[in-house]
Amino acid sequence: MQKVSSIILAAGDGTRMKSNHSKVLCEVLFKPMLSWVLDSAKAAGIEKIAVVVSDKSDDVQKIIPKDCDIAVQGERLGTGHAVKMAQDFINKNIDTDILVLYGDAPFVDEETILLSHKAHKDSDNAVTVVSAHIENPTGYGRIYRENDKFSAIIEHSDANEEVRKITEINSGIYWFKAEFLNKALSLIKNDNSKGEYYLTDTIKLAKEMGKTVDAYMAKDSQIVLGANDRKSLSELNRMARDRVLDRLMSEGVEIPLTDGIVISNEASIGRDTVIMPNVVIKGKTTIGCGCVIGSGSVLYNTIIGDRVELLAVYADDSRVDSGAKIGPFVRLRPNTHIKAKAKIGNFVEVKNSVLGERTSVAHLTYIGDSDVGDDVNFGCGVVTANYDGAKKHRTIVGNSVFLGCNTNLVPPIKIGDGAITAAGTTITEDVPEGALAIGRAKQENKLDWAKEKGKYRK
Ligand code: UD1
Ligand code: MG
Repeated sequence: MQKVSSIILAAGDGTRMKSNHSKVLCEVLFKPMLSWVLDSAKAAGIEKIAVVVSDKSDDVQKIIPKDCDIAVQGERLGTGHAVKMAQDFINKNIDTDILVLYGDAPFVDEETILLSHKAHKDSDNAVTVVSAHIENPTGYGRIYRENDKFSAIIEHSDANEEVRKITEINSGIYWFKAEFLNKALSLIKNDNSKGEYYLTDTIKLAKEMGKTVDAYMAKDSQIVLGANDRKSLSELNRMARDRVLDRLMSEGVEIPLTDGIVISNEASIGRDTVIMPNVVIKGKTTIGCGCVIGSGSVLYNTIIGDRVELLAVYADDSRVDSGAKIGPFVRLRPNTHIKAKAKIGNFVEVKNSVLGERTSVAHLTYIGDSDVGDDVNFGCGVVTANYDGAKKHRTIVGNSVFLGCNTNLVPPIKIGDGAITAAGTTITEDVPEGALAIGRAKQENKLDWAKEKGKYRK
């Protein structure tokens, strides 16, 4: 798209959310509502974006991409006033069509943005309002028509009984010619029931100036939905969740029952992968084909190959290659890479480490800050003592190493290829290739000791 820009209103305080944070930060499928809107604007090809934020919203500014302008609204005097706060941005982009969006209506999509812009251009409108039919229009501004021609938006609080019966509503999404918007903003007054500067008054003003205005009816009325309180936020989450699951199933993902499954909109999952109940997949997680993601798994920004089995695995910022089998009850902490066909069993934690192909870590093990080769066997209870109280150190384990049960690895340390450590050994020095390392006191049997001391229990 060329010669377009967008102003996103995000200065709402969200009183009804009863939150200490700004409303636009409330999340739908683990992503702030404002980020949904920003992503849709960008997906539609809009590069110049200004976000209007409240003066008490440092937290909101943190999630706004660096290439966006930020305008600050001190007092909250209405949607018209909020857009006016972006006056500098409007001046900079005076030769563009400006799309106004709300940061608390996350479902606006690329298609609606593009089609409404086409309608705006084709009719050479000063303003094009995106409208929608909804069953319960209470609270929304109504699209008012005289002789079938769109003539004004009448706010619910200013509407009479007759107008309140209209079910075509203002979504809050508009295309403006920047030059017209600039002029109209200086003319908006606050002589209404709320004493606010209404952006919706721009329709009346355009008419008075003899300019054309139109309403573009959205194909999907869900795009207007916003969240004002926790209950409506939960409803948005449910809707978004169902949409994602429907899409994944249509792409060949097997979801035998949808109970307790929540998957982010950014996740991608290959065909024939089975997602069992009670699985949460967040962020940009990618899962290959033919995997089984078992109940109780929570995955965040994790990349998973094909035919991987995860049972009750909690993984973030990690990578698991094809054919690996992990779980149950395994934690993969950030920067972990499990290579192909590795096996990780019960109660194992891996952090900032690489585990080679076919390496097996069957039970009760902690691997931190380690580089482990292929075909290594970890006995039960192996622990890397990666932290000395001040610094983290790395453990390097070669290929085909056999680590006996309860081996403590105290890094910095290097175990050569094919080496063996005896059970219960604390390794504090490098072990050469092919060596056996035993670091424990030799066992002594005191014959008949128990009998002589009267402690024989048989
Ligand atoms: C607005 C529209 C209404 C439309 C509805 C759709 C006006 C006057 N009315 O009503 O026609 O049907 O949205 O949801 O525009 N905001 C600011 N600063 C302000 C006021 C609002 O940033 O001073 C932001 C809010 O954070 C929100 C958006 O603008 O994102 C809409 O404001 P809101 O108060 O929710 O407007 P509505 O009364 O819902
Ligand atoms: Mg609203």
